[in-house]
Amino acid sequence: MKQTLNILQNTVIGDIERCKSLSDLSDIRVSVLGKNGQLTAILKNVGQLPPSERPIIGQLANSVKKSISEMLDKKIRLINIEEWNASLKEEVTDVTLPDKGFLMGHRHPISQTITRISESFRRLGFSVESGPEIETDYYNFEALNIPQDHPARDMHDTFYLKSGDLLRTHTSPVQIHVMKHQKPPLKIIVPGVVYRCDADVSHSPVFHQIEGLYVNDSVSMAELKGTLEFFLHDLFGDTLAVRLRPSYFPFTEPSVEVDLECPFCKSGCRVCKKTRWIEVMGAGMVHRNVFRSVGYDPDLVTGFAFGLGIDRIAMLLFNIPDIRLMYENDNRFLKQF
Ligand code: DAH
Repeated sequence: MKQTLNILQNTVIGDIERCKSLSDLSDIRVSVLGKNGQLTAILKNVGQLPPSERPIIGQLANSVKKSISEMLDKKIRLINIEEWNASLKEEVTDVTLPDKGFLMGHRHPISQTITRISESFRRLGFSVESGPEIETDYYNFEALNIPQDHPARDMHDTFYLKSGDLLRTHTSPVQIHVMKHQKPPLKIIVPGVVYRCDADVSHSPVFHQIEGLYVNDSVSMAELKGTLEFFLHDLFGDTLAVRLRPSYFPFTEPSVEVDLECPFCKSGCRVCKKTRWIEVMGAGMVHRNVFRSVGYDPDLVTGFAFGLGIDRIAMLLFNIPDIRLMYENDNRFLKQF
């Protein structure tokens, strides 16, 4: 039995040394040390030997098992290192090759439009303010002279939150925040995101507005017209006519709708819907009730306000046919601007 063990050890060690791959090593391990392996069989049969031989053969078999197993592990490490070195030799990195380039980000057409509009108003002395996107009913409606049950609420398609608050439907509530904390004179614009439950080619549930507000002791309608004309000419070129049409907003009196002569045609087109005019914003003289709700005395101050959709302006500036394109983050669209 001793001899069998010695022969087994020598043959197996020779086999291991000649081995070239991990899978061959694994075959050897199974055939010698596995459940039905040669050495396992010998160890199982130690109990059948005469009692005097049992400890000697048992010990020898275990030490053969140990040295075979150590040899196997050693050879595995060796093969791993050889394979690793071979792969390093193959996978040389040529650092002199030109790189593949990378995708450059772009400023979104809406951001670009906000910057251009803000620059224009900054030149007239307006500063830029901001306000919360989650609003109370009071700031979004009540303080702007839109009480409960006022028909103007229907036009706002409001998203209400479980708390009873809402997502602001326009940037006008920032007028209230600013006037509550600052005394006149003030001259501000407020670019920001607004939300309405509405979606088609020209309406997105999330869109952008710029609010404007000028309050002083004797602000006139003529100043409103001059300001808006300056701004629209600055943005679209000063050959285009601007006109004011009487309109209605609860927070201004009188109120106007501002139209710009169509920049794309002389005789009517798809953009102006054959009217030659494009509606660009709402405006008016701040309503006395709005001044009252912020604690200003309506006999001592006057002001004008206006609100415009930035997305509309961006569509006109960059000739974008569908508002939804601006919210899809498609790089093929974005990289055109
Ligand atoms: N808040 C109005 C809207 O979302 C726009 C607007 C109209 C704002 C007239 C004004 C204004 O400040 O004077 O439709």
